[in-house]
This record gives sequence, structure tokens and C-alpha cells, in this order.
Amino acid sequence: MSALDRKLSGSPSSFKLEARGLSRVASGKPLLQGIDLGVSQGETLAVIGPSGSGKSTLLRLLNRLDEPTAGTVLLEGIDYRTIPPQELRRRVGMVMQAPHLFPGNVSQNVGYGPRQRNAPLPDSDIEVLLERVGLAGYASREVSHLSGGEAQRVSLARTLANDPEVLLLDEPTSALDDEAARGIEALVGDIIRERAMTCVIVTHDLAQAARLADRIVILNAGRIKAIGSPEEVIHGK
Ligand SMILES: Nc1ncnc2c1ncn2[C@@H]1O[C@H](COP(=O)(O)OP(=O)(O)OP(=O)(O)O)[C@@H](O)[C@H]1O
Ligand SMILES: [Mg+2]
Repeated sequence: MSALDRKLSGSPSSFKLEARGLSRVASGKPLLQGIDLGVSQGETLAVIGPSGSGKSTLLRLLNRLDEPTAGTVLLEGIDYRTIPPQELRRRVGMVMQAPHLFPGNVSQNVGYGPRQRNAPLPDSDIEVLLERVGLAGYASREVSHLSGGEAQRVSLARTLANDPEVLLLDEPTSALDDEAARGIEALVGDIIRERAMTCVIVTHDLAQAARLADRIVILNAGRIKAIGSPEEVIHGK
């Protein structure tokens, strides 16, 4: 840990998840530069910005799928580099734009995380999760036969099976047709409210950001261009 990193992680954090000076350089190119950002317990933050502005990079850094080249992230005030990666990714769950499901059936996919931790979920718990995401009775279906919207629901259930404290979503509806996208958006909104989850959602859809988020951050060229409530960011109030 460098002296700068010690300084960055030195003062207490009142946020559930906080980026401090978070930066990443890859192949000599700065992808994200000095991001300071806190998300409170139960808050939903939307990240918007042009293609290539660093939205996915930020999300991947938030659960250390990518490694910061400077700065760090605090989870409940703890520097996440001191948390074993498997535990970190259980506590900070991620849903991607295109669901990466494993070959097999829905139940095997949903139960993947708990099985990895030698704490397999009983079938009844898997069925409850499937009901919650609108896929009651899907447990034995092969994932290769699912529609895009159904696959995204499985992906969400698989992340929820880990009982994460923070949910990261990277454009979860942008690969779907309008109807499936509306269904997933409503489901995500309901779940984060009922679980009072802390959530960071990347979206290119400003209206979606305004519907789901308490605050919106706009990224541009790897830096924060604006941050505030949807009214402040969208209408400049
Ligand atoms: N490993 C890497 N090496 C070099 N450049 C990279 C690497 N990963 C991403 N980039 C570049 O970093 C920039 C930010 O990428 P990122 O995927 O975070 O953008 P984004 O805002 O999510 O874009 P989109 O809206 O298209 O998903 C892009 O210019 C991308 O080409
Ligand atoms: Mg992206």
C-alpha cells in the first residue's frame, strides 16, 4: 500500500460503499481518474455517460473485478483490498448487461454461488428466489432455451442467492426488447426497495436512471462531470 493509498483509506467513511481517488490505467491509457464517490446504505446511484466514458470500468472496480491502479474502495469503511475477493464479490454482487449463465438448468445457475461456498441452497429456497424474479416453475429448464429477459431474471436470482449487501448492475436492460426491459426495470426497482439494498446501476437511459435512482452521476472521459439528485442532474436545478 503506497503512502497515498494509506492517506486515502485513512479517514472514517459514513458510506456503505465509497470510492476514494479510484483510478485505473490500462495499456498506458487512463480509463478512470480520481473518482471520489460515496453510496449510502439503501441508496441507489445511477451512472450515466457516453460510450467509453468508464462506466463499466467503474463498476468492475467497485467489486474488484478490475484492480485499481490508484485509490481504493471502502466497504463499510473497510479498505476492500483487505477483504478476501470471494467474500467481497458475495457481499457486492454484480449483474451484467449480457447474462453469463453456465450450461445447465436454471436451478444449477441460481445455486452456483452458495454451492461454491459449500453452503448449497435447498431447492425450496431456490424456488422462492425464482418466484421472486417471476420464474416460478423454471428450476429444471435448460438455460440455453430461455429468452433474453428470462436469462436476465436468472442472472438476477443468481446474484440475489448470495444475499449481497450491495448490488451492481451494468446496463441490465439494454440488451432486451422494450417489454422485457420494462419488466426487468420494475423487478430491479421492487427488489432494491424491498431489501433496502445499496445499489449502483449503469444505464444509458436517463429516464430509467431518474425512475430508479436517488442520485445520478455523469461520467465523461473517466471523470465525474456531475453528480446530484435526478432533478439537479437532468434539469440543472
Ligand atoms: N483493458 C483495457 N485496456 C485498454 N483500454 C480499455 C480496457 N478496458 C476498457 N478500455 C477502454 O476504456 C474506456 C472505458 O471503457 P468502459 O467499458 O468502462 O466504457 P463504458 O462507459 O462502459 O462504455 P459503454 O457505454 O460502451 O459500455 C474505453 O475507451 C475502452 O475502450
Ligand atoms: Mg459499459
